[in-house]
Amino acid sequence: MTTNDLESAQDASTMIGIIGAGNLGQALARTALRAGRKVVISNSRGPESLAPVVAALGAGVSAGTVPEAAAAGIVAIAVPWSSVPTAVSGLQWHGRTVIDATNAWDAELGGRTSSELVADLVPGARLVKAANTLWAEVLGADPHEAGGRRVIFLSGDDAAAKASVVELFDAAGFFVIERRRDSAGVALRRKSGGRPNDAEGYRNPKRPLRG
Ligand SMILES: NC(=O)c1ccc[n+]([C@@H]2O[C@H](COP(=O)([O-])OP(=O)(O)OC[C@H]3O[C@@H](n4cnc5c(N)ncnc54)[C@H](OP(=O)(O)O)[C@@H]3O)[C@@H](O)[C@H]2O)c1
Repeated sequence: MTTNDLESAQDASTMIGIIGAGNLGQALARTALRAGRKVVISNSRGPESLAPVVAALGAGVSAGTVPEAAAAGIVAIAVPWSSVPTAVSGLQWHGRTVIDATNAWDAELGGRTSSELVADLVPGARLVKAANTLWAEVLGADPHEAGGRRVIFLSGDDAAAKASVVELFDAAGFFVIERRRDSAGVALRRKSGGRPNDAEGYRNPKRPLRG
């Protein structure tokens, strides 16, 4: 292996792949950049359509296909709930660390959590639920605020995957709080229900921070 090969292997393992390049996908890209990571971002229409997004996000972000994004060291799913099955199908997920940042507003989940349904769609992936409880506008902004660090919650069953996602958000400046277990029912907006509000959904950036 040459030095270049080694560098590209290291790049791939620390790279953040994002499936979905809308509000949340772009906010996650900003978070990853704050953490000093490179990003490959993708959507349903192909890399060419992402030229303005990549230009706005700046150095360190490239546009890719969904399979290219899904080959990164950490892959974030940031598509609308109804698009998740199509977005992730036909890809190799075994052993990959996947951030599920989706919310299943108003969806019928058949008594299961949305994370459980996503886990079925990415077989063998090490799933971490994270980044789904803040408005994209808030997530993408500097988490250092009012002399403190903005809190972000995550949960998941795989300790190593959680540790790598904690490392990512910590390096981006967030104060990470782990919820104890994902599949046991500690909900991070995973049950179907109403639209987000201050009490139980994303935090409204127009309202003051709570203590
Ligand atoms: N917006 C927020 O503040 C926020 C906060 C927390 C969590 N979330 C969650 O994040 C997810 C995305 O929300 P959003 O507001 O970012 O939506 P959005 O702005 O509408 O963006 C959706 C993105 O998903 C892409 N997409 C759709 N179908 C796809 C597919 N089959 N393959 C690849 N990419 C596909 C779209 O690409 P095309 O344009 O090419 O179709 C677009 O880039 C949702 O599950 C939402 O609940 C959102």
